[in-house]
Amino acid sequence: MAVTNHKFLLAARPVGMPKRTDWTYAEEPVAEPKEGELLVKLSYISLDPAMRIWIKDVPSYMPPVGIGEVMRALGVGVVTASRNPRFAVGDHVSGLFGVQEYALTDGKGVTKVDVRLAPLPKYLSVLGMPGMTAYFGLLDTGQPKAGETVVVSAAAGAVGALVGQIAKIKNCRVVGIAGGAEKCRYIVSELGFDAAIDYKSEDVSRSLRKHCPNGIDLYFDNVGGSILDAALAQIRLRARIVICGAISQYNNTGPIAGPSSYLSLLMNRATMKGTLVLDYIDRYPQAGAEMAGWMAAGKLKSREDIVDGLATFPDTLLKLFKGENSGKLMLKV
Ligand SMILES: NC(=O)c1ccc[n+]([C@@H]2O[C@H](COP(=O)([O-])OP(=O)(O)OC[C@H]3O[C@@H](n4cnc5c(N)ncnc54)[C@H](OP(=O)(O)O)[C@@H]3O)[C@@H](O)[C@H]2O)c1
Repeated sequence: MAVTNHKFLLAARPVGMPKRTDWTYAEEPVAEPKEGELLVKLSYISLDPAMRIWIKDVPSYMPPVGIGEVMRALGVGVVTASRNPRFAVGDHVSGLFGVQEYALTDGKGVTKVDVRLAPLPKYLSVLGMPGMTAYFGLLDTGQPKAGETVVVSAAAGAVGALVGQIAKIKNCRVVGIAGGAEKCRYIVSELGFDAAIDYKSEDVSRSLRKHCPNGIDLYFDNVGGSILDAALAQIRLRARIVICGAISQYNNTGPIAGPSSYLSLLMNRATMKGTLVLDYIDRYPQAGAEMAGWMAAGKLKSREDIVDGLATFPDTLLKLFKGENSGKLMLKV
């Protein structure tokens, strides 16, 4: 019996927050794999802030998704047909499969995952791209030392929650910045952060002074904008600022707001450096093994926000930009 694939294509380049009309929901018959190909039935699709970057027509670390193309997305699923010797029917795999139910691929960039070690959603979360971003962004780019004060923004999110916990494992003092009382309670009571700042109800500069009386040694920035500025103004000598993302700026229709406190880098002989998870692909297995060990020891937790239904994609994606996701956001197909 013919199987039908449903998928989301980029229909228009969004201006500001993506709208329903920026997407086309399409269907097509699923094709048979040709020699060297495999067919993957998606189980979960990762929704990431980077999607907003990928649909802009600007140079980035990847070419933009073209108009009429399937929206780019990471996903995990199961192989349902294979003419590729590396993969067998029934294998669980992760890769850049797109926002669709079935993906036909030549296997490049596809990796097998072991569902006996962890449930599939964890491979889009702590054992997947956000986990690797937190691990390498903090440890390699940020170089935290025991006893230092680490501040992280979007601290209850997929990357931020892991950054804070890994910094605790490395014996740092950790302050998280997040939106709302529930997220602040979560990172302190459940994840063991030393303090939380609710940027929606508090004066961030004043709260940073309170919780970081000696200044900030390492700021892991996920949001950019005024929070980056507030953190920069309170760094210590030889501080490191890790630029991981700037979600507050991704839907801007005007210029990106740059930090006015950047001379603090000069006064404090500090460094501000970008980090990109893709630079560490060769080292993912080493990081994954160490993170799995911390999970087994109860030192590293993650929560996943799983929304049912591929068809909800346009609305569900917006949860990231409204702060409505609790943990790693993904679609269950
Ligand atoms: N460099 C890399 O290789 C790499 C890889 C993965 C992700 N990233 C970046 O890491 C950041 C976090 O990604 P994630 O996947 O972990 O997402 P996430 O934190 O799970 O979700 C995004 C969160 O951002 C916060 N947010 C949204 N709009 C905001 C605003 N205007 N001001 C302040 N906070 C805002 C919201 O939390 P609140 O409720 O707390 O506001 C929201 O829940 C993003 O900037 C992303 O682009 C970078």
